[in-house]
Amino acid sequence: MILPETSQIQHGHLFVGGCDVVELAREFGTPLHIFDEATLRGKARSYSQAFGSRYPDVLLCYAAKAFLNPWLATLLAEEGFGLDVVSGGEMIVAERAGFPMSKVHLHGNNKLLEELGLALDLGVGRIVIDNFTEIGMLEAAAKNRRKVAQVLLRIAPGVEAHTHEYLRTGGTHSKFGVPVMTDQAAEAVGRIVACEHLKLVGFHAHIGSQIFDLLPFEENVETLIDFALQMRERHDFELLEISPGGGLGIQYLEADDPPSIEDVARAITGVMQRAAAKRRLELPKLVLEPGRSMVGQAGMTLYTAGTVKDIPGSCKYVAVDGGMADNIRPALYQAKYQALVANKADRPGEETVSIAGKYCESGDVLISDISLPRIEPGDVIAIPATGAYCIPMASNYNVSLKPPIVVVSEGRATLVRRRETYDDLLACEVA
Ligand code: LLP
Repeated sequence: MILPETSQIQHGHLFVGGCDVVELAREFGTPLHIFDEATLRGKARSYSQAFGSRYPDVLLCYAAKAFLNPWLATLLAEEGFGLDVVSGGEMIVAERAGFPMSKVHLHGNNKLLEELGLALDLGVGRIVIDNFTEIGMLEAAAKNRRKVAQVLLRIAPGVEAHTHEYLRTGGTHSKFGVPVMTDQAAEAVGRIVACEHLKLVGFHAHIGSQIFDLLPFEENVETLIDFALQMRERHDFELLEISPGGGLGIQYLEADDPPSIEDVARAITGVMQRAAAKRRLELPKLVLEPGRSMVGQAGMTLYTAGTVKDIPGSCKYVAVDGGMADNIRPALYQAKYQALVANKADRPGEETVSIAGKYCESGDVLISDISLPRIEPGDVIAIPATGAYCIPMASNYNVSLKPPIVVVSEGRATLVRRRETYDDLLACEVA
């Protein structure tokens, strides 16, 4: 399903979470991001159920990079989730929201010394070492604080996922992780286990994002286990945790057919159980890091239609009051989206248009060639499935203001982030 679970059409208007989105656009202005709380909690519970019912020890660490704010951090803590963070900023949001920091895992291919220090000071549960440089940096930072950091090593497993090349991370040539192929991962293990202030508990590998095949997920887990077993031989290392990352794709278009959360849980836990039984390995804790598949479907962006430009024999542009500053994904990854005219939601497609953004770039086109009811200025255009990687990748291009965020649930709409103001934007200018 592309739309949030609670979506309905009543009297020609699109409703989400029991709220008329046309009214939301009027009340809060556009562009406007909305999140359907029921869809979000539903995803969290599907993940907990799918993995929890199949495997004894699971920690679901939501990947904060897909979208994070204090409201979401609080909701995730209520749902028993952990958090995968990649920066000082994400750690601070979690900490200020009262998130249990022992369930936070810190990633990153170039964690700054301050970030490593902050993680140790805030009691972040795991630091995922990404490269050789970091081993020395973290050992020193932990030693200074008289602490022992619990760490995982991120390996580059040499598994290629079929997705956009910018979204692949598992290959030997990736900037992330220490390659298994070159034997450097084994060398890194030797170095880490020799460190007094680091306790190596397991291995992590994330192969990419928006993945529709189950096979690369399975291969990744197999590679992680094989590697762990080799390390048992070579370094007498005892495997406590395995973290095969995130990456499950979602539906953006009718034609997209990603596996379900159940399918992925069955595949990953199946490999773990079979491998452990065959190799006399005690089942390690399993850490998952879903991002997009947790929040993507719950989010939607509302725009107001403005100018129309019809080029005979070419195409018809309908421009909206947002675009690449609030959703860079079409311009950056050629990502495809669906749209609805929220105030004409019961009308069939009448014309083929392209939805252009308002920013000064020809590439700022959100959707090319979509069939929609005839659009007039003032109509509310809803783009679904924008819950992941739109808000956190937003910019202030053309000195534009980032949109507010409204959470809808059971007919109530709650503003959780207000629209930026020009004063907000000028607040950092000191000369
Ligand atoms: N774990 C690690 C270590 C990751 O790097 C990522 C995503 C995830 C988990 C979550 O992956 P997900 O379940 O969301 O696929 N900006 C791109 C996506 C970049 C993904 C980065 N890493 C986009 O808009 O498609």
